[in-house]
Amino acid sequence: MHIAVVGLSHRTAPVEVREKLSISELQIGDSFNSLKEKEQVIEVSILSTCNRLEIYSLVKEPDTGVSEIREFLKDHSGLSEEVLFPHLFSFIQEEAVAHLMRVSSGLDSLVLGEGQILSQVKKMVRLGQENKATGPILNRLLTQAVSTGKRVRSETNLGSGAVSISSAAVELAQLKLGQSLGKDQLVTLESERVAVVGAGRMSRLLIQHLQAKGCSTLTLVNRSLDRAQSLASDFSTVQINCLLLDSLDSCLLNSSLVFTSTAAENPIIDAERLKKISLQNSLRLIDIGVPRNISADVKHLKNVQSHDVDDLQEVVSRNQEARQKLALQAEELIKEEGRLFLEWWESLEAVPTINSLRSSMEGIRKEELQKALSRMGPDFSARERKVVEALSKGIINKILHTPVTKLRAPQARTDRIDSLRKIENLFDL
Ligand SMILES: NC(=O)c1ccc[n+]([C@@H]2O[C@H](COP(=O)([O-])OP(=O)(O)OC[C@H]3O[C@@H](n4cnc5c(N)ncnc54)[C@H](OP(=O)(O)O)[C@@H]3O)[C@@H](O)[C@H]2O)c1
Repeated sequence: MHIAVVGLSHRTAPVEVREKLSISELQIGDSFNSLKEKEQVIEVSILSTCNRLEIYSLVKEPDTGVSEIREFLKDHSGLSEEVLFPHLFSFIQEEAVAHLMRVSSGLDSLVLGEGQILSQVKKMVRLGQENKATGPILNRLLTQAVSTGKRVRSETNLGSGAVSISSAAVELAQLKLGQSLGKDQLVTLESERVAVVGAGRMSRLLIQHLQAKGCSTLTLVNRSLDRAQSLASDFSTVQINCLLLDSLDSCLLNSSLVFTSTAAENPIIDAERLKKISLQNSLRLIDIGVPRNISADVKHLKNVQSHDVDDLQEVVSRNQEARQKLALQAEELIKEEGRLFLEWWESLEAVPTINSLRSSMEGIRKEELQKALSRMGPDFSARERKVVEALSKGIINKILHTPVTKLRAPQARTDRIDSLRKIENLFDL
């Protein structure tokens, strides 16, 4: 059995490919069913975020297991092998474990150390269990990945500071506005007419960062008004005008800077829509949705500057240098956690032999106890019988304790196998 991860991320694929692979919560049950049907797959879990889709699995054979998952991804995306496969990566065993630990710690994120990924890994644990797709090995690995992510954030400063895709989006707006004014620096957004489309988690973070960058009034557009109003009510120092999605056109006409972060499956703003409303002023659109909320065709319109999640790289690389140093500290913790998981897993190899040794000893103990008790006859009280039984159990446990601990302890695989075969041979297991 081997642990394998197959997938793609912002490092290996542009957003137009990533969005074809994203798996929504509605599709997740069917995806798990297809993966569980694969011949090679023993356990499986899915990590689907705006920047990555990764399938972690326990497979019988690494090469055929990876091929089966690549086939699943091809079928799910509807992309051809030629288009999709060059963007896919795969790692096996130690490398797969280390990759997951790096992902959950935010080291593989576009914004180094961002916090959302940890909740997305937690969600992966929950979805795998709810869909009965994970078992003892992946559950242990994923749980350890979550605790590694927490450990990295508490033992290094990587997670400190406001780092998220949303903060990068606000910084990109500041940078682009500065560049349009001939300055290569972040400028305040005070003079912008700002709108946010979507009222979920990312929009909340967007508003927090907008507030911090001088924005005191904005329009919040959402499919359902109550969610927008409830979000707005949490910001007492920003004046937020809430609108339904039906009013998006008038909002676009009246805004200079629009952020989109909805979970819509298809674009909600495209060139046709913008042409129809006869936009007069210049409009900057920043889309952090994946799949994208803004169609790529708006880039060709006069007066419109549009940026998607991949364009955040520009601001992110400006801030990375200091964080890279912190990332090095995190790599040490990740190595340690990866090693602990693999030691645990390797120690499982001893379990069948330990179980048969225990049951062989238990058989002997019961047989000998029975003989002894029948020799004692009826005069032997119930209390005395209990004492003798406890004594027999105590002796067996004491005898087994040291060899069992040694068999499970970290050691070279060949040494463990050698000890297991000797025990099986000596005790005729
Ligand atoms: N979570 C992250 O870490 C993260 C990071 C970067 C980017 N993103 C991307 O940002 C987007 C939003 O993520 P989130 O975590 O904020 O999601 P969320 O908390 O689930 O909120 C989803 C939002 O999208 C709206 N929505 C859903 N389906 C819609 C549709 N068909 N048409 C119009 N609006 C629709 C919802 O409106 P209602 O309130 O009416 O349901 C809600 O406002 C996603 O594309 C995600 O991939 C997420």
